[in-house]
Amino acid sequence: MGDFAKGLEGVTAAETNMSFIDGQEGRLEYVGIGIDDLAEHSTFEETVFLLWNNRLPTASELSDFRKELSKRYALPAGLARRVAEIPTTAQPMHMLRTLVSEMSLYDTHPNDNDVEQARRKAMNILGQAPTIVAMFDRCRRGLPVIEPDPSLGFSANFLYMLNGEKPTETMARAFDICMITHADHGLNNSTFAARVVISTLSDVYSAITAAIGSLRGPLHGGANEGVMHMLNEIPSVDDAEAYIMGKLERREKIMGFGHRVYKAKDPRATYLMTLAEQLAKDTGNADLYAKSHKIEQVMEREVAAKGIYPNVDFYSATTYHCIGLRLDLFTPMFAMSRIGGWSGHVIEQLSDNRLFRPAAAYVGPHDAPYVPIDQR
Ligand code: ACO
Repeated sequence: MGDFAKGLEGVTAAETNMSFIDGQEGRLEYVGIGIDDLAEHSTFEETVFLLWNNRLPTASELSDFRKELSKRYALPAGLARRVAEIPTTAQPMHMLRTLVSEMSLYDTHPNDNDVEQARRKAMNILGQAPTIVAMFDRCRRGLPVIEPDPSLGFSANFLYMLNGEKPTETMARAFDICMITHADHGLNNSTFAARVVISTLSDVYSAITAAIGSLRGPLHGGANEGVMHMLNEIPSVDDAEAYIMGKLERREKIMGFGHRVYKAKDPRATYLMTLAEQLAKDTGNADLYAKSHKIEQVMEREVAAKGIYPNVDFYSATTYHCIGLRLDLFTPMFAMSRIGGWSGHVIEQLSDNRLFRPAAAYVGPHDAPYVPIDQR
């Protein structure tokens, strides 16, 4: 039996063609292309094509991919009714996890795992998840549901369904950049969860459902909501230093900082910082950015020596706030994007599968007597 590695730190458990991370240098590439280049020049649809096919599409392939995806924005009537019936007090991540699981009930061949079928299911989930989130949010606010507009791209269509009006180009682009930067990230916890589930030859819906359950944890994708709660707790930029010092003294973790792999600043955080600064200026949220920036300075001084730097969740919180998203939608935004990455990993796993079945080091007693219940 191999050595025990708590939290599987340093264990290589899969091969992937999708993303490469250099944690020391703070570099992230999707299929060899730097994340900055993709954030600058690509679109979310093109990025998902890249992840699923390990190459950039031609213009006609991209146009077909977009059409294929937008055809799937609309929900089956039964699923739409279910979204409308969800209690308005439900938390969006619990809602999304449940509804993605329910999507399998509308698939006549949910267990079909050949690669083409898996892609079809992945496309369904990718296309329908934004509709589910937007519909739920409008229902809980007592607003009429906005049907998807297939003429719009993934990001513009989502903001349209959420707000009932077409987003400005700047907002749609900012949102698309968030989607690109969150799409894939090696064998992170939720991606591992998806690969573990599909490795039993279960089904794509079960794998993505498990991944959503993993992502919502505050140590993973749930941290972006934690960051926003923290920013809301700090009255002004002048209070940020004392707030962070207090937390560090109490040995509490600061959400949006630290990473298992990065021991330098997460390149996604670097990119999102610039975006957040611009959006904050444009939307009258300069104080929010100023607080974030101050927190980063204090953390740099106090803990950078331990390799703790901002991760993707830190500046995505300010970015999502400036785009006008309600706080409890931040993690679902992460999920909507990461469905692209999870699905790519599910397809990779199915293409060269071996069941995941690690060992546990047994540390309990041996040869213990069975004591009858009346003698315990
Ligand atoms: N704030 C303060 N101290 C921290 C932080 C933080 N955010 N992160 C790590 N540390 C400290 C720990 O207290 C620990 O210190 P010690 O050695 O003195 O006890 C040391 O750094 C190592 O921390 P671990 O939690 O053991 O590191 P691990 O690799 O297991 O955890 C994790 C990584 C979970 C991301 C951690 O940094 C964390 O909890 N961060 C806050 C939550 C967060 O932002 N999560 C999002 C990650 S990115 C993503 O999933 C999309």
